[in-house]
Amino acid sequence: MTSQSSDFTSNSAQVQGTNDNSIVSKLSMVTQGYLEDKYLKYFVQKPQRRSPIINRGYYIRSKAVRHVLAKFLSARSNEDVQIVSLGAGFDTTFFNIRDLMNESATKHLKYIEIDYPSVISRKVKLAQAADLLEGQNLQNDKNIIYRNENYCAVGFDLRKVGAELAETLQNCGINFTVPTLFLSEVVMTYLTSGQSRNIIKWINHSFRNAVLVVFEQMLPTNGFGEVMLRHFETCGSPLLAIRDYPTLLSQKKRHNVLGFKTVVGVDMVSFYQCNVSSEEKEKIQNIEPFDEYEAWHQTCLHYFIMCSTNSEEESVQEFCKTCLKCHESEKPEVKAEEVSISCKEPFSSIQMFGHCASSVATGNKDLEKQVDDVILFGGFGLSTQNQRKKDHHRRLHDGTLLNIPNNNLKTLTPSNIEFKTPMYSSIVQKPNHEKTQFLLFGGRSSPKMTTNDVSLITINKNCTEHDIKLIPSQGTCPNARWRHTANVLQFVNNCEDDQHTMLVYGGRDELNVHGDCWCLNMNTFIWSNVESKVGEKDIVLGRHSHSAVKCGSEKGDILFISGGLDCNEEPLNDVLSLKMLSHSKALIDRVDIHPKLPQLYSHTSHIHTDRYLILVGGVQFPTCKELHENPNSLADQVFIIDLSTNAWIRTVTLKKPFGLNSLMLHGHCSFVFGNNS
Ligand SMILES: C[S@@+](CC[C@H](N)C(=O)[O-])C[C@H]1O[C@@H](n2cnc3c(N)ncnc32)[C@H](O)[C@@H]1O
Repeated sequence: MTSQSSDFTSNSAQVQGTNDNSIVSKLSMVTQGYLEDKYLKYFVQKPQRRSPIINRGYYIRSKAVRHVLAKFLSARSNEDVQIVSLGAGFDTTFFNIRDLMNESATKHLKYIEIDYPSVISRKVKLAQAADLLEGQNLQNDKNIIYRNENYCAVGFDLRKVGAELAETLQNCGINFTVPTLFLSEVVMTYLTSGQSRNIIKWINHSFRNAVLVVFEQMLPTNGFGEVMLRHFETCGSPLLAIRDYPTLLSQKKRHNVLGFKTVVGVDMVSFYQCNVSSEEKEKIQNIEPFDEYEAWHQTCLHYFIMCSTNSEEESVQEFCKTCLKCHESEKPEVKAEEVSISCKEPFSSIQMFGHCASSVATGNKDLEKQVDDVILFGGFGLSTQNQRKKDHHRRLHDGTLLNIPNNNLKTLTPSNIEFKTPMYSSIVQKPNHEKTQFLLFGGRSSPKMTTNDVSLITINKNCTEHDIKLIPSQGTCPNARWRHTANVLQFVNNCEDDQHTMLVYGGRDELNVHGDCWCLNMNTFIWSNVESKVGEKDIVLGRHSHSAVKCGSEKGDILFISGGLDCNEEPLNDVLSLKMLSHSKALIDRVDIHPKLPQLYSHTSHIHTDRYLILVGGVQFPTCKELHENPNSLADQVFIIDLSTNAWIRTVTLKKPFGLNSLMLHGHCSFVFGNNS
């Protein structure tokens, strides 16, 4: 196989630098309380606090590796245990394992760490300075920097794997027939396919009972994968084999071919869902204010842990088969018809997320008519007004008016510059024949600063400015929230002045995920709480980052609510229908879609010709088989459901237009425009 990645060469100084970066991040994660490790602090000179998303990333990585190692140790209690950590860097696993063992168990342990000589020498010095490596250095080989009864630090370039390394390991006291776990935690990813193939082949050839545990990146070709690759290239440590082995299935096949016949592997979403207890998940989710669900799930989907063995021994095979749980087999095989369509070139000057948007009807135009103009508010990104290369991404406070047919953007500067537009708020157009007005509700400036304000936005005649003013709330108001939905509903049998209400559903605040429903009368601005009658008992009401769309019928409007994240950050795969029975009562029921939809959130939805429910993008959770067949099926798919039969009839993959690298459709806004086709 030819490696496209051979275009890149890795600079070994930069690759060694990846260790300094990971150890600082691991310490940050531990300091915040995600996991315990009292040894990391000895290996970090300048501790730094990383962002919550980085902390979570290092938590899941350490958790996954610890999980497999713990299973291996418990499967081999009272027997010899050999662990070889390839590219160990400053990892502290050995010191932590040693703490868990009593004296007699420690006698069975042989733990060998291999890294570049300069890295491993620095590590030994730091460990000795902290009195972690006591006793005599029994070093008896030029590659061995330090050796005691059960620990050995080897300085060796893994690209030169072969007889010399075998001899060094022999001098470390390794037994080539005892079950031996080789750990590559984000290491082989920095080697070319050929170099890592040599390592795997060498292990298979030298060890009859080898277990290989690999934790690294995958899925390089979708939007997130491309950004991930660019990041590592920019750091001077490109991922060299990922394009040759882009999916978990391709990695599994590779290990099979190289002699590791029993293989199990999961991505970090599956790992978290199936291998972490609910108590631990609750703890993790409450450690730091967090609002980067999309990036978190995307990151988790792009990393895997895989355990494989070449052993014929039943106990080793059993360990390998059972050490990682996943619920892949529960996912339905039946799927909707699949088609692809190519997208047009995007509006290159819009770079934002976490904003809200509404279609614009002006003057006498009917609100329901075809969409030509769209208004965008808030969010984070590049200002559309003054886009220079040097512009920083930041919170956006201007409005943007976008004319779709003419591909034309106008910035709407606020007349009140004091007003700071929150992120993840909602916006709907206020029916008004005289003026173009919108209601902005909720949102947040940080995960701790959430609002339940309603503001009235009025666009001036020339569409150059917007006036924004806070509306004094009346009645019992909903709690502050963000990542909720707001839709305008109409009551069929009502008199003129309360025909339109803004219906707010779900969302979250700092502590809670909401499942409640509120109506704001759009003329009187009086709020009322809507009591929800639930058709089926097991319907999950509390959700955020869902989507809601109105379908008008003669019998009144129905809101279709789809997907979202529940209070445990679990993605949902259901569709609910919400029908208003009166101003203060709603009936919520589940729409049983067949085949079952995948879980998704942070998507958008539309109704087409009162019959089709269209779900666009979102963070999606395909199976590894689906990802193998279509590595892009993460966020750029559209699901079409026929509401007359409740059948999921079609999946449309949006193909990137030529020249556009990434398509990450989540946290976006979408509109149906043009004629109804
Ligand atoms: C991202 S760090 C991971 C360190 C450790 N496994 C962990 O997870 O904390 C990658 C490590 O692999 C080591 N490494 C990469 N290529 C190597 C090679 N050819 N020989 C030895 N070590 C290597 C680097 O020096 C670095 O310490």
